[in-house]
Amino acid sequence: MSITILGIESSCDETAASVVEDGHVLSNIIADQKVHQEYGGVVPELASRAHQQNIVPVVDRALAEAGKTTDDLKAIAFTRGPGLIGALLVGSSFAKGLSLALNIPLIDVNHLQAHIMSLFLKRKNEERSFPPFPFLCLLVSGGHTQLVIMKDHLTMEIIGQTIDDAAGEAFDKCAKILGLGYPGGPLIDLYARKGNPEAFKFGKPKISGHDFSFSGLKTSFLYFLRDQLKGNPEFIAQYLNDLCASLQHAIIDILIAKVTLAVKETNIREVALAGGVSANSGLREALTRQGKKHNWNIYIPEIQYSTDNAAMIALTGYYKYLSGKLADQTITPVARFDQL
Ligand code: KG4
Ligand code: ZN
Repeated sequence: MSITILGIESSCDETAASVVEDGHVLSNIIADQKVHQEYGGVVPELASRAHQQNIVPVVDRALAEAGKTTDDLKAIAFTRGPGLIGALLVGSSFAKGLSLALNIPLIDVNHLQAHIMSLFLKRKNEERSFPPFPFLCLLVSGGHTQLVIMKDHLTMEIIGQTIDDAAGEAFDKCAKILGLGYPGGPLIDLYARKGNPEAFKFGKPKISGHDFSFSGLKTSFLYFLRDQLKGNPEFIAQYLNDLCASLQHAIIDILIAKVTLAVKETNIREVALAGGVSANSGLREALTRQGKKHNWNIYIPEIQYSTDNAAMIALTGYYKYLSGKLADQTITPVARFDQL
């Protein structure tokens, strides 16, 4: 008897639904919200409204593409947090209603744990190598940056995290300083490919242990540009590629240095990357290079599963279902990781 799970993701500005059966992805539908672009960032109230408009058609498409109906579902998994509370409320209310109507279990999912589970996503008959436990994971998203030891599919030990901005936030805030659109990470990635990563140097954080800091880099970037623009108002336009390449290089350097330290101290040589920033081409290459150099095994999610999606929610739901970790109708979404 197959175990078919519907996953729903609505933590930020992507409304997503996916059907996963016996651990294999059958469908992965994502509706992103263009409405935020003109504001230069996600507007929470607009995100909630767009989720409300998108959720029914997105779930319908996920079921149709999977060739399933609601009668085939064994459980509904949804993102409980962290994220924007109004956005989370749309997905969680929908999931609760559907689980009640179909009389099937409800499963709450931690969005960050799900990002790590994106490493285990594949379609049926697809060849992919999965990280063995325990493995070390650098989790880099728009709101979080953590170093995690994964002990099994559902047990994560956080050994380091950012004390200020997340890596994705550093990309997005610096992109804003450059006058680029939102989200800035993918745009910086794009321009960086044509630039010189050694062209400019920015301040490096001095944080001991496994924790991260990115706010100093952002300030150093801001002051550097302010000074340059005084002498040359066209500085950004003239050096955009080099600025993006140098900034991306600085962010990657910070991340790789901490991973290297963590491998040394934990002696875990199975190293994975997850979260939206794992889509960054420079970071993917740098970690792969470092892995080759030091003889680590490297695991990186497919690009389609790097940024927010519901397949990772459905797969985490599948593992929680197998271990009987179900939620009930009293569950409510939470905005912060430490509330989960
Ligand atoms: O995981 P995610 O999709 O959403 C959160 O859970 O936050 O991550 C979104 C973050 C944004 O900051 C975005 O700029 C960044 O991931 N991002 C990238 C790239 N693609 C997405 N950053 C750098 N390079 C990329 N190619
Ligand atoms: Zn995310």
